[in-house]
Amino acid sequence: MLDSMARVNQLLDHEDYNRYIETINELEKERCFCKHGFEHGINVARIAYAYLLEKGNRDLSKEGVYAAALLHDIGRWVEYQTGEDHAEVSARLALPLLKECGFSSADIQVILAGIREHRRHYEDDLSLLGEALAIADDWARDCRYCSAQKQCYKFKPEMTQIIY
Ligand SMILES: [Fe+2]
Ligand SMILES: [Fe+2]
Repeated sequence: MLDSMARVNQLLDHEDYNRYIETINELEKERCFCKHGFEHGINVARIAYAYLLEKGNRDLSKEGVYAAALLHDIGRWVEYQTGEDHAEVSARLALPLLKECGFSSADIQVILAGIREHRRHYEDDLSLLGEALAIADDWARDCRYCSAQKQCYKFKPEMTQIIY
């Protein structure tokens, strides 16, 4: 039986989530590097979940992983405007959304920690969800045919290979 994704779908329908995504889409219209809208969030969700399945995870729910991935970059637009680190902003903006969509306090603590950790090196001592998000955030990049390879500070030749 598949986990219910009701709370994740409630999140996707939330007006604040949609406003953040629209603002990011607008600010990244001319961006030649990876963008941070819904498509990036869902790609990270799928990869993070697959990674956790391969690791034999039994602690994190599918809904929690998807919620964390879909929310991990929602604060990007604030970073563009004020320079504040978007991992922190995303966690702050995610809190009321997660509460309103019915996630438990225990789930929320895990999800917010994962969001805060998503930019860290995955060799660091991260929570399981933080590690999955940090890895999926890299693996979600489609570098092979990207026209911005030469200007991208994140690009490495091995990123044109399939590693997941
Ligand atoms: Fe990010
Ligand atoms: Fe990301």
